[in-house]
Amino acid sequence: MGKIILTGDRPTGRLHIGHYVGSLRERVALQNSGKFDEIFIMIADAQALTDNADNPEKIRENIIEVALDYLSAGLDPDKCHIFIQSQVSELTELSFYYMNLVTVARLQRNPTVKAEIAQKNFELSLPVGFFTYPISQAADITLFKADTVPVGEDQLPMIEQTREIVRSFGNIYGEGILVEPEALIPKNKACHRLPGTDGKAKMSKSIGNCIYLSDSSEEVKTKVMSMYTDPDHIKVEDPGKIEGNTVFTYLDAFVKEDSFEKYLPEYNNLDELKDHYRRGGLGDVKVKKFLIKVLEEELTPIRARRAEYEKDIRKVYKILEDGTARAREVGMKTIAEVKHAMRIDYFEDTELIESQVQKFKAKHE
Ligand code: TRP
Repeated sequence: MGKIILTGDRPTGRLHIGHYVGSLRERVALQNSGKFDEIFIMIADAQALTDNADNPEKIRENIIEVALDYLSAGLDPDKCHIFIQSQVSELTELSFYYMNLVTVARLQRNPTVKAEIAQKNFELSLPVGFFTYPISQAADITLFKADTVPVGEDQLPMIEQTREIVRSFGNIYGEGILVEPEALIPKNKACHRLPGTDGKAKMSKSIGNCIYLSDSSEEVKTKVMSMYTDPDHIKVEDPGKIEGNTVFTYLDAFVKEDSFEKYLPEYNNLDELKDHYRRGGLGDVKVKKFLIKVLEEELTPIRARRAEYEKDIRKVYKILEDGTARAREVGMKTIAEVKHAMRIDYFEDTELIESQVQKFKAKHE
């Protein structure tokens, strides 16, 4: 059995640096590690529609944005298949069979979905499709027999749900067809839920506290300079707090081994910088300017690749079309195996037809 990756994102907006450190950076590294036989990266438009049914235009528009973000972050169409979820109808088919293996009570316990339902104030208008998206996500992963799912840590409950479905399926219809996946989340805790630039829990387009992968260097500069730090650190001499200080959280997520040597050689490492900030005598502006340099180093090549791909949007759609063709090929094969295991492949089942022939023949003898 090969090593296979499947992961993806909802195309509800451009991707930001929270997506990047939370999962995208890791995907590129895994892709380039050469350790995987096949990599599927899915633009989850059907999942995005589960809470945007009345606004398909938003999803349509953002498919190309997310594709550009993927390609500019370094996902390479020669090494992975980027595809569009809704164009692989086997995913919907598999979801429908999985629905019978999951209870309503089990879905209600999913902490990520629970939080989203509360945050979106659905109450009685909760769409069934949204409520059941963990099931469709299990289909996304298992249709490709993925064993590795690089995701942000908020997706862990989905992977757990997937594993349970694989086990139920195995118990009922036979083992060895589906694969139980493992989630892969960043080791660096700062990458798990990168806060917004305002220090709020999460980057969110509606709050306007995101730094996008596609932001210009001017935009990045402005956003960093107005970032939330320690509100009690007023004068440079004042001692400052690191906890909850967004600038330091971003540094935790982005600083590389050689960042200090390159951009702030008075310090050997982040611990030294933090100590100085805590003691007092280190101003926010100096730390912010350092963060800008660190971010720019990461974002400059991403911007350059984006500019290239933006010049050839037809080619980007062709990449998606080719990726989707391969996804369907694999999907059709798995669906055939699944239906065979469930014994609902009636027309291929010569034994079934023969036994029915005999049964009815006996009736008339
Ligand atoms: N739920 C994921 C998100 O919101 C997107 C997604 C859909 C996904 N299907 C998936 C991620 C399968 C990993 C595997 O970002």
